Amino acid sequence: MIKFVNVTKFYPPNTYALKNTSFHIQSGEFVSIVGQSGAGKSTIIRLLSAEEKSDNGRIIIGDWDITNIKPKEIPALRRQIGIVFQDFKLLEKKRVGENIAFALEVIDTPKKKIRSITDQLLKIVGLENKINYFPQQLSAGEAQRVVIARALVHRPKILLADEPTGNLDPINTRDIVELLAKINEFGTTVLLVTHNREIVNFLRKRVITLDHGVIIGDQVNSGRYVI
Ligand SMILES: Nc1ncnc2c1ncn2[C@@H]1O[C@H](COP(=O)(O)OP(=O)(O)O)[C@@H](O)[C@H]1O
Ligand SMILES: [Mg+2]
Repeated sequence: MIKFVNVTKFYPPNTYALKNTSFHIQSGEFVSIVGQSGAGKSTIIRLLSAEEKSDNGRIIIGDWDITNIKPKEIPALRRQIGIVFQDFKLLEKKRVGENIAFALEVIDTPKKKIRSITDQLLKIVGLENKINYFPQQLSAGEAQRVVIARALVHRPKILLADEPTGNLDPINTRDIVELLAKINEFGTTVLLVTHNREIVNFLRKRVITLDHGVIIGDQVNSGRYVI
């Protein structure tokens, strides 16, 4: 589902964010990416979402070689990938339901379909009763659940989450991680960037460890992982 083949990303004047990095992620996998700050974790996310281009190597998503993706193809790519960041970025003047519906309205989805997708996603994230709340009326954990629901509107095959629990307390963190695991069980491939040891030990899934742009570990976590 995701292939990095000898990918290098250089930031002038002298940073190799990724150095000849290769890994494969199968469809339906749940993979955590860990490593110190500056290790290159977010660079992987930025390359997959075509926010940045690699300097070398190939990046393939499904059957699509996105290494040299053209700007006009990027929206189609982003509809296949859901992305969740640490900072919530909800539209403050729109209600929860509208925040989710917005991404569908801009591509002229019929109203009825928007309503059914929104209802279904709010149910998955457990916020059916908050559909008419404004973002500032939500807790941080609830807001992040709305962000996750919004990331799923196009039914992406892949969900990328970059430190999605970075601003949350341990209880909300656990809820969000369980939600990501549930989404993965429905068949979505999940790539989770985190430096929270409890999370990867709780998940007991594959963990890729990066250090200065190099993969120094790729293993199934037994539950005693040390970061
Ligand atoms: N736009 C940029 N310009 C210059 N250097 C950058 C840029 N983005 C990231 N870097 C550098 O690349 C390295 C990897 O960054 P990043 O992938 O964001 O790390 P992290 O693992 O913390 O997510 C870091 O040394 C960072 O300073
Ligand atoms: Mg980062």
